[in-house]
Amino acid sequence: MTGVICGTGSYVPTQILDNHRLSELVETSDEWIRERTGVIRRHIATEETTVSMAAEAGRRALKDAGMDSKEVEMILVSTISSNVILPCAACEVQKILGAEHAVCFDLNAACSGFLFAYQTAQAYIAAGMYRKILVIGSESLSDLTNWKDRSTCILFGDGAGAAVLKAAKGRTFISAAHSDGNSAEALTCSSRHRRDWKDRPEEETYMQMDGRRVFQFAVKKVPEVVTELLDANQVKAEEIDYFLLHQANRRIVESAAKRMGLGIEKFPMNLQEYGNTSSASIPILMDELRRNGTLKKGQKLVLAGFGAGLSWGASLLEWQL
Ligand code: UT7
Repeated sequence: MTGVICGTGSYVPTQILDNHRLSELVETSDEWIRERTGVIRRHIATEETTVSMAAEAGRRALKDAGMDSKEVEMILVSTISSNVILPCAACEVQKILGAEHAVCFDLNAACSGFLFAYQTAQAYIAAGMYRKILVIGSESLSDLTNWKDRSTCILFGDGAGAAVLKAAKGRTFISAAHSDGNSAEALTCSSRHRRDWKDRPEEETYMQMDGRRVFQFAVKKVPEVVTELLDANQVKAEEIDYFLLHQANRRIVESAAKRMGLGIEKFPMNLQEYGNTSSASIPILMDELRRNGTLKKGQKLVLAGFGAGLSWGASLLEWQL
């Protein structure tokens, strides 16, 4: 058995923060942000929370799949920005959706989170333990953003995306995933609940990033892991219709396409509209491509995530909707 995506959904906050408004908060410019990142605006949660966005994206994905919430056997929420430490966001989503038969837990793998959650769901399905799984990536990164730090606040945004996986007969693809805890300091955010946090600099409770280092890591590791994935499945890059990369920076996506010798048209992007939404970026993009008719039954897609940990990975799937 393999898991096929039978529905997608997403939710982004209505409040928009564009580069011009941001340049009133920190010393930056629309020109610099566009040129270095490709981001033009991002959506910022005001009324919304990580849980409310996750639940709405999940509800839309279930509607798309034509599946009642009571049929869902597992809810996985990937997030680094949950409203509370306990209970997990997935249990709160379960309550909102009335998915009373689901087992629920969260997964923290930062910007690789949706990808790792998707792989986890596939493993449960392959093991025959669950047949209908709702996988969600949801983030309120604006809560973890230091709005005085121009090297990070220009990048991030809020939102949620979801996919429903259903067990079906079909080809099971091998996936690829890696972590490098030795490089953990490249991207960090300390908990405000630490016993000693009052004695520590406030900046540490926000995301802190060695941007150049993460950039170098991403442009090297993404093509590497995609090549590893394709080799393991004996599929050629030319056979892939679309590569859905984590939406961190337009230059990272362009560099990956170039290193793999592929046209940029195979690498759809929406980071100009949402910024980097961490674990929500891949499912939001997937849902947009589904809704605008880009994705067609039988197409082969590669999903690739990378980020804090450091962590990175890729999965191959055949689109069935
Ligand atoms: O999702 C998790 C993974 N995260 C990522 O993938 C992020 C990866 N990194 C990046 O996307 C890029 O490194 C950034 C967008 C964060 C930064 O772009 P960069 O081209 O690497 O810039 P830089 O850090 O090398 O800085 C270049 C210059 C510096 O000035 P000097 O030292 O050359 O005088 C910075 O101080 O740009 C300056 N700078 C800015 N200037 C205007 C840094 N941030 C800004 C800013 N506006 N917002």
